[in-house]
Amino acid sequence: MNIPTKNIVWHQSTVTRTHREQINKHKSATLWFTGLSGAGKSTLAHAVEAQLAELQCRTFVLDGDNVRHGLCADLGFSKTERTENIRRISEMCKLFIESGIIILTAFISPFHEDRQRARNLMGDDFLEIYCQAPLAICEQRDVKGLYRRARAGEIPDFTGISSPYEIPNNPELIVNTYTQSIENSAHQVINLLRSRAIIPNL
Ligand code: ADX
Repeated sequence: MNIPTKNIVWHQSTVTRTHREQINKHKSATLWFTGLSGAGKSTLAHAVEAQLAELQCRTFVLDGDNVRHGLCADLGFSKTERTENIRRISEMCKLFIESGIIILTAFISPFHEDRQRARNLMGDDFLEIYCQAPLAICEQRDVKGLYRRARAGEIPDFTGISSPYEIPNNPELIVNTYTQSIENSAHQVINLLRSRAIIPNL
């Protein structure tokens, strides 16, 4: 899918990212939550967003299941399609970063290569948060009943069962969503944002 961009010129905003960040009183960043299905990525992203709302920060959560209903509705779960899924999300995050907000993404994003590409695109604005929970626990929770169906052979290429999850090598943060409470996990993420001076250190 290589569409030539040679006749397209980037239009610079009149209101800059810096200006927007000044209005918002915090910096922009992408919090990239990665982990198995059922590891608690979305739950944690929303819990962090709730805490950020309390702090008057501007945020938005992009969630795998939601994005796959629209923007990525044409994509399945083969390696190539997941790569395209993550590519589109990453580009969207890059645009959102210019809007001055804090973006929280909750995609399995199982492949190193795809996450690395997202990191390369966003540079220091990209903070990778690994939601660590054993497969057995995610499978036991099976909130959506998908693990059971994947084990029964009804869902091909299911992450953790018939498709790999490549554990992040060097994420900015590892959150153990299995052993600790959601409040503690959210607190860890908020501390990361403070330590990076993305939100003010109160
Ligand atoms: S990703 O691998 O491309 O990052 P994404 O986060 O968008 O995946 O979507 C994952 C969600 O789709 C899961 O939480 C689950 O509800 C659903 N799903 C459906 N089929 C699969 C599959 N084969 N593998 C993983 N998740 C699947």
